[in-house]
Amino acid sequence: MSELEGKVVLITGGAGGLGSAAARAVAARGARVMVSDVDAEGGAAVAEEVGGEFLRCDVSSLEENRAMFDATVETFGGLDHIYLNAGVASGIGLGDDFDVDTYRRVMGINLDGVVFGAHEAIRVLREQGGGSVVATASLAGLTAVPYDPLYAANKHAVVGLARSLGPGLVNEGIRFNAICPGFAESGIIAPIRDALINSGFTIIPAEKVAAGVVALFEGEASGECWFVQPGWDPQSFQFRNIPGPRAD
Ligand SMILES: NC(=O)c1ccc[n+]([C@@H]2O[C@H](COP(=O)([O-])OP(=O)(O)OC[C@H]3O[C@@H](n4cnc5c(N)ncnc54)[C@H](O)[C@@H]3O)[C@@H](O)[C@H]2O)c1
Repeated sequence: MSELEGKVVLITGGAGGLGSAAARAVAARGARVMVSDVDAEGGAAVAEEVGGEFLRCDVSSLEENRAMFDATVETFGGLDHIYLNAGVASGIGLGDDFDVDTYRRVMGINLDGVVFGAHEAIRVLREQGGGSVVATASLAGLTAVPYDPLYAANKHAVVGLARSLGPGLVNEGIRFNAICPGFAESGIIAPIRDALINSGFTIIPAEKVAAGVVALFEGEASGECWFVQPGWDPQSFQFRNIPGPRAD
């Protein structure tokens, strides 16, 4: 029996490629799922498919995050695992194509959305006596992304958040990790999918990313950032230690 049997899982960005794959994967293991998204039609369809519930939430709002967490606990009588997954590409750079409103919007979703979700998750999981969180970062949180530096910036921030929060929460029975997929099947890569394939990239099935999320929910890790790449099982990225001080 899966550790997820009977557990309650909340998924943001649940209407999209990676969120819906995760919803199917945890539901197949017996979890009860709260699907959340700004896309009410898409989110409700995923919720119906997995026998779960749908709740609209714009993750860039702290108030809406708080309401989403409270409503999930009220609906299911508890909450065990949270997948902070909603995210968007920026589509802008710095210089001529910079736009401050777009910048605020993408940081609001990709960074504030995870920070606010983490804040509410920790509050609720403390009340519930433990649980786990997975945030979707990206390989863009582990390496340079010249075509979308702002996406790299907010995904690096998610990596730093998971590494910093994870170890300290373990004593309270709470685990916090990030998943870092390469190019995976979903709406976000639709505009560049053909170009990626023509350049020789293998697109990762969304189900493989979902398998990594499930493994993190079911496992013992905390503060880890698991990469998902073709030809590898999802696993912890090994960071190099920073250099220590040297005598002059
Ligand atoms: N697909 C990839 O190649 C890839 C790789 C690495 C990381 N990611 C990350 O995976 C996550 C999921 O994206 P995806 O690939 O499934 O793309 P997607 O576009 O299919 O799904 C993203 C979902 O987020 C929702 N969303 C957008 N703004 C929102 C908001 N303000 N509040 C709540 N929901 C909102 C969208 O409606 C959509 O359903 C994102 O964080 C993305 O950055 C994707």
